[in-house]
Amino acid sequence: MEHTKPSYYITTPIYYVNAKPHLGTAYCTILADVQARFRRACGCDVKFLTGMDEHGEKVAEAAEKNGFDSPQAWCDSMEPAFADLWRTLEISNDDFIRTTQPRHIAGVQKFLQVLLDRGYIYKGAYDGWYCRPDETYFTDTQVRHHEEDRRAAGEEPADPEHPLCPDCDRPLERIKEESWFFKLSEFQQPLLDFYEAHPDFIQPETRRNEVLSFVKGGLKDLSISRSTFDWGVPFPFDEKHVAYVWVDALINYITALGYGSDDESEFHRRWPAQVHVVGKDIIRFHCVIWPALLMAAGLPLPERVFVHGFLTVRNEETGKIEKMSKSRGNAIAPEEVIDLLGVEAYRYYFMTDVAHGTDAPISWGRMRQVYNADLANSWGNLVSRTLNMSVKYFDGCAPVRPADFDAPSPVRDACAGVFERYAAAMEQMDYGAAAGEVFAIVSAANHYIEDSAPWALAKDPEKADELARVIWSLIEVIRIAAELYEPFMPCISAEVRRRLSLSTEPSTDLAAACVWGGLAGGEPVEKGDPLFPRLVD
Ligand code: MSP
Repeated sequence: MEHTKPSYYITTPIYYVNAKPHLGTAYCTILADVQARFRRACGCDVKFLTGMDEHGEKVAEAAEKNGFDSPQAWCDSMEPAFADLWRTLEISNDDFIRTTQPRHIAGVQKFLQVLLDRGYIYKGAYDGWYCRPDETYFTDTQVRHHEEDRRAAGEEPADPEHPLCPDCDRPLERIKEESWFFKLSEFQQPLLDFYEAHPDFIQPETRRNEVLSFVKGGLKDLSISRSTFDWGVPFPFDEKHVAYVWVDALINYITALGYGSDDESEFHRRWPAQVHVVGKDIIRFHCVIWPALLMAAGLPLPERVFVHGFLTVRNEETGKIEKMSKSRGNAIAPEEVIDLLGVEAYRYYFMTDVAHGTDAPISWGRMRQVYNADLANSWGNLVSRTLNMSVKYFDGCAPVRPADFDAPSPVRDACAGVFERYAAAMEQMDYGAAAGEVFAIVSAANHYIEDSAPWALAKDPEKADELARVIWSLIEVIRIAAELYEPFMPCISAEVRRRLSLSTEPSTDLAAACVWGGLAGGEPVEKGDPLFPRLVD
């Protein structure tokens, strides 16, 4: 098959199976989904990947604790929790990878063999700190620095036998065992050179600086195998060892493209990825370890890693702002938000009102406010009023495009260049700014209704042409806004297009679809129920 469209490969992290997805994990997935939809609308051949991270000691333990016969059975039982939620939230992933799939295991084994053949791994002994909940290793220096920081902040000294994890502040364990090591230390300079040559590799800028200073501080070789349990991918050349769960997991980004299979054509066509979307807690894995592993394997590096912050909640007891997570017991189930807002407004709120580079507190009050202001009173209201008038004044149809449709008018002028402004913001994943551009044309249209008073024009037969031009222009704004809102609220956009007798399929040439004048008119329109019934307290 010929592939003429440019490939756009976008990924989410693969989620741990031990906890059902919550608002935080859903946030990361919707963030990637909006970008995937935008790129499809721009004509790209998109591959959007998400999946589950199923190996590691914690998973084996959870399987036992929950009375499952095998870790695999436990993982299988968790799959619907993810698959169903992604369907409900209109996640348009093209593939769903599980690290227990044969395609993944084969690829990880190939990758390990390549690292061995190229001389980047060796056998040694690991003696250091391990955070079991995070499945992350720490050196003595990292742990000492964290303890110094804690003391400087006036916190109680930790138990020296179990100092606290620099990432999550939970107690660490001392671990000693034979292990395979990856020569991460050899990649300090190559990584720094790469970051310098690719200033957009890590976004936003603050995260880039964080990674730079971490790498400048020096890199130690990384323990990449475990021999104390067997729930993982066995090393092909040393079966007693399974791959460290993070190395196993990172490789999913290429095994999903067929790396290590009999047919690597998709891998060659699509790799490197255009963007990995990740949370700030896993930045080192994606911006340091993964690039170094790829360099060691002689493979190209992804174009971009977009790092988002956390959804946070306030701990009522301590007053501290905490990351929302299942293990902290403060996670909100997506169903709760869906019950209040519905799926479309849920997506809209988290994508456009939450700044993606920083942490964001969850607020039910703010959700209602945004829903009512942006969706009920503006977008929904514009659609209702306009279609109502069109049905009433034009016999159930949209007016035919007038000959002078392109004459200057407040709405036509507001739409000039809207695609370009929107696309520039979308490319930066600045969804708040992108949606702000759409909101601006919707607001211009609502003002235009007030200023042109179609109900008055309708009373004067001499103003029939003017009335047609006003209503046609309003519907044209609605058509364009529905195109631009599609990545955020796919169902509503399809519904609006349906009411306008247009194809319900999203556009694959968004730039062209946003050109003023695209609506021929003359077709039936349907008023329908309010798209966003107002929320009352
Ligand atoms: N399994 C690893 C990722 C391996 S990728 C090769 C993992 N899984 S996770 O389930 O713990 O987290 C997955 C993603 O969800 C991370 O990007 C993380 O930042 C994100 N989030 C988890 N809680 C979150 C919030 N409270 N807010 C925003 N994102 C959050 O890490």
